[in-house]
Amino acid sequence: MPNILAIETSCDETAAAVFTDEPRILSNVVASQTELHARFGGVVPEVAARAHLQRLLPIVDEALARANLRLEDIGCIAVHNTPGLVGALLVGVSAAKVLALVLDVPLIAVNHIESHIYAARLAAERDIFPCVGLVVSGGHTVLFHCRDALRFDLLGGTLDDAAGEAFDKVASLLGLGFPGGPAVEREAAGGQADAVKLPRSFLHDERLDFSFSGLKTAVLYALAGQSQPRPEPPPPSQRRADLAASFQKAVVDVLVAKSSQALRRTGLKRLAVGGGVAANGCLRSALEAMARDEGAELFIPPLSLCTDNAAMAAVAVEKWRRNEWASLALDAVPSWTPSPAT
Ligand code: KG4
Ligand code: ZN
Repeated sequence: MPNILAIETSCDETAAAVFTDEPRILSNVVASQTELHARFGGVVPEVAARAHLQRLLPIVDEALARANLRLEDIGCIAVHNTPGLVGALLVGVSAAKVLALVLDVPLIAVNHIESHIYAARLAAERDIFPCVGLVVSGGHTVLFHCRDALRFDLLGGTLDDAAGEAFDKVASLLGLGFPGGPAVEREAAGGQADAVKLPRSFLHDERLDFSFSGLKTAVLYALAGQSQPRPEPPPPSQRRADLAASFQKAVVDVLVAKSSQALRRTGLKRLAVGGGVAANGCLRSALEAMARDEGAELFIPPLSLCTDNAAMAAVAVEKWRRNEWASLALDAVPSWTPSPAT
């Protein structure tokens, strides 16, 4: 198998990685744009696309240098072409196509969501399929029956906000800034998770779907708080920490309950988790406890492989083995709907 250069520009991380068979990661470089978007309180698509344009080639050079390789040593280009912000994706897809053309090497199109699950396979360094796959990112909250690295059947997903989106919106409501997930987690460390009663949608429902928008609204009402006078209101900072902890616990409770339901429903004893929210310590320990109770193996990557990166596109090695090439007409596809289980 050749050395594969992978490119990721789906949102606000500009990333490149080099890997080869097994898969073996030779380098993995990520440039975050957090500082560019922070003052806007969220990712601004135009700003993200422009920054990718400026940063991508230096990041590719750095990935090659760290792998101790030159461009001529690359025998295949992989790129995340879906889902994501269209302008951002286009930068990566265009660069990948040009590289494949000038190097005269095959191009492989990789689905960013499949890659998030593959990050767990990478970290495990052994086969993890078939498994239940939970992707919890800024744009997606999905449960899959992953039959193999590339064959995912949809078990359920969010009907409104994604888990990461809910973290980001609640961070904004609480004045915690951007990026929201890590900020809420830090704030929650000083709060009581049972201080504020918040809803857990579909917790006792048969469906493996999620809904987080009601939870976000409940945080908003709890924050306004006037309808619930307290004899001795805690100081605002404690209230904020309590809200962060209670919100985080509500999200975690639902993600864990639905993952456990999915394990039981499919009869599988392996759970792979990926996406930025999988970096959350409270979620990680709750999933570990649940997996222990269920007698299931938990595959969850280290934090650096949970958030967006290009190494997770090493799922491309599976496509290489199956001769699944993309043509140079490859397009950026912003939205992606997984297919339901048959
Ligand atoms: O997978 P990812 O890096 O990008 C997407 O594909 O969307 O996920 C980003 C999301 C953001 O919503 C961010 O707030 C959330 O992951 N996130 C976290 C944590 N770290 C990142 N959410 C909760 N706790 C964290 N520690
Ligand atoms: Zn992602």
